[in-house]
Amino acid sequence: MNMKLQVAGIDTGYGRIPVLHGVSMCVAPHEAVAIIGANGAGKSTLVRAVCGLLPLGAGSITKDGREIGAMPAHQRVQQGLGVVLENRNLFGELSVLTNLQAAQHQGARRQVARRFSLDDVIELFPFMHGRLDSAVELLSGGEQQMVAIARALLLQPDLLVMDEPSTGLAPKVLRHIVEATAKLRERGLAILLIEQNVALAAEIADRAYVMSLGRVVQEIQPHEWGRIMENEDLMRAYLGA
Ligand SMILES: Nc1ncnc2c1ncn2[C@@H]1O[C@H](COP(=O)(O)OP(=O)(O)OP(=O)(O)O)[C@@H](O)[C@H]1O
Ligand SMILES: [Mg+2]
Repeated sequence: MNMKLQVAGIDTGYGRIPVLHGVSMCVAPHEAVAIIGANGAGKSTLVRAVCGLLPLGAGSITKDGREIGAMPAHQRVQQGLGVVLENRNLFGELSVLTNLQAAQHQGARRQVARRFSLDDVIELFPFMHGRLDSAVELLSGGEQQMVAIARALLLQPDLLVMDEPSTGLAPKVLRHIVEATAKLRERGLAILLIEQNVALAAEIADRAYVMSLGRVVQEIQPHEWGRIMENEDLMRAYLGA
């Protein structure tokens, strides 16, 4: 079976500064996988390498069996990779609708069986109904996060990568994002979630990888979540808990 995403032994970093060392991980079709680890572990660097913002020094990245490790970011989008970056990368001065339409336009180039429409993403995050004409920078952090996810969905991905979508969000907004994620899985999307909150990761993801100092140091299988959260040494060593 081809993996939705297969990262094999990648090294990358910033200029001459090495950050990731031989990182391997995978996401199977329809699977939700989390990457957990303390600040500075290299989680966002992995996201940047996967979506094409950092060149690989070694290793490979395949999506559905096809090598994407040397493709520019926009071509990876055409391969069905949707990414919500840590900084969300929205056009702050432009309206919610304009942000969504830009993505819709780009996503229209992808041939997929069942598309996410504008109505679909508004249904997923109903607050947007009344806010389509608002400038994105005037929205709350949680609202902006939802716009960023909606925008990624309009690129028509089959793998959605989210870098710490929960950062700074109120519990209620968090609930909403957890529920939305469950709905996306029902629609067959595979998910790669970067998340420092282990309990939240356990709720959303089937399995996880723990990163520390630029390496994958542990894999957490579906039945192991409980044991991990009770393991204070591991939580302290790798997760800064
Ligand atoms: N633009 C950059 N230039 C140089 N070094 C960087 C850059 N971005 C990150 N780093 C370094 O790479 C390492 C990994 O950072 P990264 O952002 O991937 O961590 P993270 O696991 O996402 O952390 P956090 O939980 O705080 O988001 C850190 O040591 C960081 O200082
Ligand atoms: Mg990060």
